[in-house]
Amino acid sequence: MNPFVFGEVVKDANFIDRKTELETIAKDLLDGQKVFLIAPRRYGKTSLLLAAAEKLKAKGVRVIYLDLFKTASIEQFAAALGKAAAEMRKLGFAEAVKFIKDFVSGLRPQFSVNPDGSLSLGVDASPPQKEVFQMIENLLAYPQEFATREKKPVVVIFDEFQEIVGIGGEPLEKLMRAVIQKQRNVGYAFCGSKKTMMNEMVSKRSRAFFGLGPVTHLEKIPSEYFEKYLAVNFAKGGFDCPEEALRSIVDSAGGIPYYIQYLAHELWDLKTEEKKITAADIDRAVALIAKRNTPLYQNLWENLPQTQKRLLQGLAANPGAAIFSGAFITRFQLRSSALVKKSLSLLVSKDIIERAAAGYVFTDHWMGVWVRQNCS
Ligand SMILES: Nc1ncnc2c1ncn2[C@@H]1O[C@H](COP(=O)(O)OP(=O)(O)O)[C@@H](O)[C@H]1O
Ligand SMILES: [Mg+2]
Repeated sequence: MNPFVFGEVVKDANFIDRKTELETIAKDLLDGQKVFLIAPRRYGKTSLLLAAAEKLKAKGVRVIYLDLFKTASIEQFAAALGKAAAEMRKLGFAEAVKFIKDFVSGLRPQFSVNPDGSLSLGVDASPPQKEVFQMIENLLAYPQEFATREKKPVVVIFDEFQEIVGIGGEPLEKLMRAVIQKQRNVGYAFCGSKKTMMNEMVSKRSRAFFGLGPVTHLEKIPSEYFEKYLAVNFAKGGFDCPEEALRSIVDSAGGIPYYIQYLAHELWDLKTEEKKITAADIDRAVALIAKRNTPLYQNLWENLPQTQKRLLQGLAANPGAAIFSGAFITRFQLRSSALVKKSLSLLVSKDIIERAAAGYVFTDHWMGVWVRQNCS
């Protein structure tokens, strides 16, 4: 069976490196700190947080996890907090329903059971904002009450926290900070991916979450760890994968955990018969993956103005280039650094590129490959 996993949370033997981050985050959360974890998408934030959650649960900590990608309105956010509070108490279905109704009756909650037996919760009303804020305030206070009453440490994890801005804006941020900062016995993790947005939340004095706790910027996993992991797994499957090939897999995937696993997965399937991986195979696998996503990339590409297309051509051809330099501006007909700046910010807002440690990169690494191969 193909051992390389991507697009889902990785655990146990598939979860590599991140030892210090794991220790630090788990310890800080146990100490009741409010921690921030920021990195571009697909670096392994969720996997890291859930690994920390497992570690904490083994120590008797109650952990609740909320993914804000799943809450598309403030009412849904309130309902999700209600459900999380019921989970914290480990209530059965009937008791959970009663408990949640007490907190969010104004949302006319609708309950059903998921195929896996867990509770699913919908909302059927939009009461006045003031009422919803009151519900949220009561629910946010609950983890601390529970921790004090049960004498049990509690940890709350908010994943994709940058979404809070769209869910409730500044008033919700302020309310959350006001309630949470007083909670000595509850550790909070706020994790986010849209880098600029999360950065602003923690680094601007005027924003509610400024200075609330330590901020960790998760980096890529060092290449040597991944090379070793790839070597071990390819060897187990009887593949011949020389050292240069291992390094090239990591490089071709931009060093990003998700894309490395994706490429390794592809290579495993591609060479399942021959079981030998060469430089040419890696190029072929990368091209195949990029080609598979053509409809998506083409659609994005076709809707872009010329200047933004030229900037993307430049970024695709010269990752990490000095994009404000005269040479780059001339080469890609970008006229002025002001125009580069404007186009960058538009492309960021369209989520096509994002800022990483080494400069601006394609949010979807394979799209960069696609542009290089098809649009220049
Ligand atoms: N520690 C890790 N070891 C190995 N692969 C990882 C690790 N962290 C992430 N990955 C790879 O990246 C993918 C995305 O991880 P995920 O935790 O969902 O990232 P994020 O939450 O930052 O988007 C995983 O499915 C896996 O392929
Ligand atoms: Mg995630």
